[in-house]
Amino acid sequence: MQFFIPNNCRLINKAWFIFFALGLSAAPVFADGPSGVTNIFKTYSTPARAIANYTILILAVCAVIFVIVTGLLFYTVARFRHRRGDDGREPAQVYGSNQIELAWTVIPILIVFVLSLVTARTIAEVQNAGPPSNALKVTVVGHQWWWEIRYPDLNIVTANELHVPVSETAQPRPSFLKLESADVAHSFWVPQLAGKTDLIPNRENRMWIEPTVPGTYLGNCAEYCGTQHARMLIRVIVHPAGEFEKWAAAQQSDAVNDAQAKAGRDVFFSTSCVNCHTIKGTEARGKFGPDLTHLMSRQTLGSGAALNTPEKVRAWVRNPQSLKQGCYMPDMQLTDEEMDQLVRYLLTLN
Ligand code: CUA
Repeated sequence: MQFFIPNNCRLINKAWFIFFALGLSAAPVFADGPSGVTNIFKTYSTPARAIANYTILILAVCAVIFVIVTGLLFYTVARFRHRRGDDGREPAQVYGSNQIELAWTVIPILIVFVLSLVTARTIAEVQNAGPPSNALKVTVVGHQWWWEIRYPDLNIVTANELHVPVSETAQPRPSFLKLESADVAHSFWVPQLAGKTDLIPNRENRMWIEPTVPGTYLGNCAEYCGTQHARMLIRVIVHPAGEFEKWAAAQQSDAVNDAQAKAGRDVFFSTSCVNCHTIKGTEARGKFGPDLTHLMSRQTLGSGAALNTPEKVRAWVRNPQSLKQGCYMPDMQLTDEEMDQLVRYLLTLN
């Protein structure tokens, strides 16, 4: 598709840029969720649905106003245009019409009043909901540039991919998220599941999702938080009934200790990898980077910077900066042999 954009027309160029930037800002790098790209109108969760319904109402009211105002404008321009044979005199001037002034004061006040009530009702509906006793409780901590995800009741720590059970009509099971930040302000946004909520240092925010369809939902950090803000992607994996418990049981176990990967394990424990990462069941208890206990159970690396394949794991450890420039993981300067061993060990962490 080609657009004709005159080279000298800076304003039009800028308008196109803003148009595309707005469109693309809601579309993360990967697009393989239940509905391809994220879409605030294609909702699969109670709070997102409340917000989408509200948005459609506001857009409809604005569309009606737009049509009436532009309709009147075009009618007036056409009806009272200059015609051949006009005598050139000004038409009769109308001053101080009480009816017209009342109409254009009262109607907008009523519209604003109704919209405020609807807004208040939607905010209350989303924010006042408390967790039912069976709700899944999750703590999400924003880091530059990844998500730490903890399940305090289940004793699970993972990263970048939030796993939750589906909420069925017969047996609703929402997930309530406590949002914190380890450094700067971030914002958790999975458009098909809920509105944005910020993660702010030294503050606890809350939000909830109630996904009704299993699948993988995409989202991203929605608050500029530094160089790799754009690669701070989120995946929410909604499990069908009964599957979430299986995932949780697998995550609760200690890391696999494969004797054949001992050499790579030794590399891991003799470099500073061990200072930043935790591997459950070993001496690695670092907290600065993501928990690696079940690294290979995740779909992506580097918070969505690349798909989690053996080649990308190697590329990531070889030089994290090549996949995610500015990230805080350093190149460990390993020899090729050490790299092979370390990657072999990491691939056992499933
Ligand atoms: Cu985190 Cu933007």
